[in-house]
Amino acid sequence: MHRSRNMKGLIRLMIFFMLCLAVRPQLTTDFYSKSCPNLLQIVRKEVLKAVKAETRMAASLLRLHFHDCFVNGCDASILLDVSDTEKLSLANNNSARGYEVIDSIKAAVETQCSGVVSCADILTIAARDSVLLSGGPTWKVPLGRRDGFVANLSASNNLPSPFEGINEISKKFSDVGLNISDVVALSGAHTIGLAKCSLFSNRLFGTPDPTMDAEMLADLQNFCPQNGDGNKMTVLDRNSSDLFDNHYFNNLVNNKGLLHSDQVLYSSSEAQSTTKSIVESYSNNPRIFFSDFANSMIRMGNINPLTGTNVLYYIR
Ligand code: HEM
Ligand SMILES: *[C@@H]1O[C@H](CO)[C@@H](O)[C@H](O)[C@H]1NC(C)=O
Ligand SMILES: *[C@@H]1O[C@H](CO)[C@@H](O)[C@H](O)[C@H]1NC(C)=O
Ligand SMILES: *[C@@H]1O[C@H](CO)[C@@H](O)[C@H](O)[C@H]1NC(C)=O
Ligand SMILES: *[C@@H]1O[C@H](CO)[C@@H](O)[C@H](O)[C@H]1NC(C)=O
Repeated sequence: MHRSRNMKGLIRLMIFFMLCLAVRPQLTTDFYSKSCPNLLQIVRKEVLKAVKAETRMAASLLRLHFHDCFVNGCDASILLDVSDTEKLSLANNNSARGYEVIDSIKAAVETQCSGVVSCADILTIAARDSVLLSGGPTWKVPLGRRDGFVANLSASNNLPSPFEGINEISKKFSDVGLNISDVVALSGAHTIGLAKCSLFSNRLFGTPDPTMDAEMLADLQNFCPQNGDGNKMTVLDRNSSDLFDNHYFNNLVNNKGLLHSDQVLYSSSEAQSTTKSIVESYSNNPRIFFSDFANSMIRMGNINPLTGTNVLYYIR
């Protein structure tokens, strides 16, 4: 008698937990296939328009997605114009850009599917399209994120910094569920886009960074003079700055990484047992880089998404 009542209770409990798993919403690549069937075409067309108008916009859109996902997850909080807006954080102020492109993509999407598609998903698709349109790999984008309503300026101030080393950066990645392989693959995003003198000029003067190629050092000392305009910009990938390719990694092997946080992946003592061999393999094999980059982008896009509306989800 008692035993059978316990059994029933156990079975009920098991069914409850199975239901919890079953209704727990996951990101899916076909999330909008009924509610916004043209979504991917609309975003592609708008990103193409923006990148044709300015090639660098591809880099800027890719970076926006990164800076969104690392702060409270991929919830478009970077777009919020609230009092503690993330747009003014150390890494974003006067640096993150492309917000108006996200606004026009959102507007174009709204004309066809009003109130359906989240900005977090638009940021994710735009990042993928930016990579593809720059000559990089493509992948299917898991969708179904909802947008958050809370900005987190202090978390945004804690984004990885170009002055940090492998240990600090990999800690920040592991805090959001990414590992050291993701650090290397995703740093390959620096195959496109620009950086300001103020973010690497500490490598040029005093005792110049010995891990910088001598010719590049002389070039940059000239381009970014001491007490000059720290906002002047130069390319992150001196070989092919508009093309998404593996030359970022060739550069590292040749001591031509621009940021301290780039070059340490190959040259630092910590790199010997961790990242150096990955850099070498990407430098030798663009296909491995492309495939790992795509997988790491999907993992980055999966950081703490807000999904679903079912209350069961929140019981976990
Ligand atoms: C690993 C740690 C990282 C650090 C320390 C870092 C740091 C930086 C810095 C300092 C800049 C230049 C900003 C400026 O001059 O205003 C930059 C630019 C950029 N970053 Fe990163 N980054 C990191 C990872 C990533 C990741 C994971 C992505 C994307 C997957 C990314 C994509 C970009 C792109 C595309 C640009 C150029 C943006 C443009 O030209 O508008 N970065 N990054
Ligand atoms: C943001 O950057 C602008 C332009 O460089 C500067 O005037 C302003 O003080 C900065 N704001 C914050 C909060 O850092
Ligand atoms: C902001 O992010 C930090 C982690 O960097 C977290 O501890 C804090 O709870 C977040 N605040 C809000 C309001 O989400
Ligand atoms: C990082 O995570 C990926 C995906 O789970 C895995 O394939 C890879 O081996 C991990 N790298 C390390 C160094 O653990
Ligand atoms: C760019 O990289 C390619 C392939 O690695 C190399 O052949 C070429 O010499 C490089 N060009 C410059 C300007 O560094």
